Amino acid sequence: MKDPQAVLREEILSAVRRFAEVEYTARPFVPGTTPVPVSGKVLDGNDLAALVDSSLDGWLTAGRFTKTFERALAKYVGARSALFVNSGSSANLIALSALTSPKLHKRALKPGDEVLTVAMGFPTTVNPIFQNGLKPVVVDVELATYDAISSRLREAVGPKTRAIMMAHTLGNPFDLKTVQELCAEHGLWLIEDSCDALGSTYDGQRTGSFGDTATASFYPAHHITTGEGGAVFVKSPLVRKQVESFRDWGRDCYCETGHDDTCHKRFQWQLGDLPLGYDHKYIYSHVGYNLKATDMQAALGASQLDKLDGFVAKRKANFKHLSKRLKGTEGLILPKATKNSDPSWFGFPITLDPELPVNRENLLRFLDSRLIGTRLMFAGNIMRQPAYRNLDFRVVGDLTNTDIIMKRTFWVGVFPGLTAPMLDYIADSILEFITDPKNRTGA
Ligand SMILES: Cc1ncc(COP(=O)(O)O)c(C=O)c1O
Repeated sequence: MKDPQAVLREEILSAVRRFAEVEYTARPFVPGTTPVPVSGKVLDGNDLAALVDSSLDGWLTAGRFTKTFERALAKYVGARSALFVNSGSSANLIALSALTSPKLHKRALKPGDEVLTVAMGFPTTVNPIFQNGLKPVVVDVELATYDAISSRLREAVGPKTRAIMMAHTLGNPFDLKTVQELCAEHGLWLIEDSCDALGSTYDGQRTGSFGDTATASFYPAHHITTGEGGAVFVKSPLVRKQVESFRDWGRDCYCETGHDDTCHKRFQWQLGDLPLGYDHKYIYSHVGYNLKATDMQAALGASQLDKLDGFVAKRKANFKHLSKRLKGTEGLILPKATKNSDPSWFGFPITLDPELPVNRENLLRFLDSRLIGTRLMFAGNIMRQPAYRNLDFRVVGDLTNTDIIMKRTFWVGVFPGLTAPMLDYIADSILEFITDPKNRTGA
């Protein structure tokens, strides 16, 4: 006879799937009435069933779903291994913090060391540099690819430069050829913020697999979601251990949640000034955090990952659709994939040419009135943000394009929940606004 809990579990999960069929039935698109968001989660019955299935386990913290998800993620990206955390920002924080570990000896990053990056982007790509007492060195980016200008990166390497930490802007891979060459020539660490780029490739290889550490975000706007969530990808077991330690309170012990004595000498260690035999579970080799996620989040992630290929294909198709509709429009700088890359786009960035006498905020207000969602290029020029104005950056060259992007760039959605009529509505609305002489009031 079947275990009564297993029977009940099946009944619950099939009810959840029936609920999803009703809940997620597509509704007709009504321009001006149906919102056209920039991003959003795309859930189905399997996702909800996975969430409920993991809840019914009652395990709650990292467990069987976390193991499955981490393995599948690493395999997908082509990294040696992956660690699941509670956000992309947490992933960035420990992807860099791990490289300050004394366990890396001479290669450990030290306060005052420089990290190459850009000023245009999301704050938590840059924050870990400050949070670890390191110094950001920023260069300008290209319009259209929105990634660092390669020649500027070359110029920026100085005697104190020890790492490069940048994001693949809106899924568009940065120039990994130049970046990898610089890392090899100067012995730099590469921390790849791949939070917006799950599924992007460079030279046929997935982003997230290039860096010594790399990250992903699973916030609902991203390619797959776990609600809140993120991952760190690593190449070496030594670095993995440090990432894990920073994630798990800074502890030296590397037992999985719910396990003891993985090292088989739990009561035989002598580290720091502690007495011999002090329980390894309570020995701390780093000033760490607790950034772990739950097994419910991992269950959702594993279920979403099964659909990632389809999501990526839809994002690329939506990007193509908007490109076709807006191609050749005077005054619009349209996005361009970096050479040798095939981006899994996060969004569709548009820069209003500085010569186009149209005000960006007026355009965004107009799109908003039509329920078309827009976003800016995150922090714009982060050095101009209130929290960063008095912080110590080294700037190499001018930041002309960064400032243009801050004033003239925005992005619209390409996420899989958008349909062709929605994309046409976005394109028609932008074209209608910028070609109307009464909107040509000056930039
Ligand atoms: C490039 C980049 N890095 C990091 C993050 C942070 O991810 P999270 O929102 O999961 O903390 C984001 C957020 O969208 C991002 O765009």
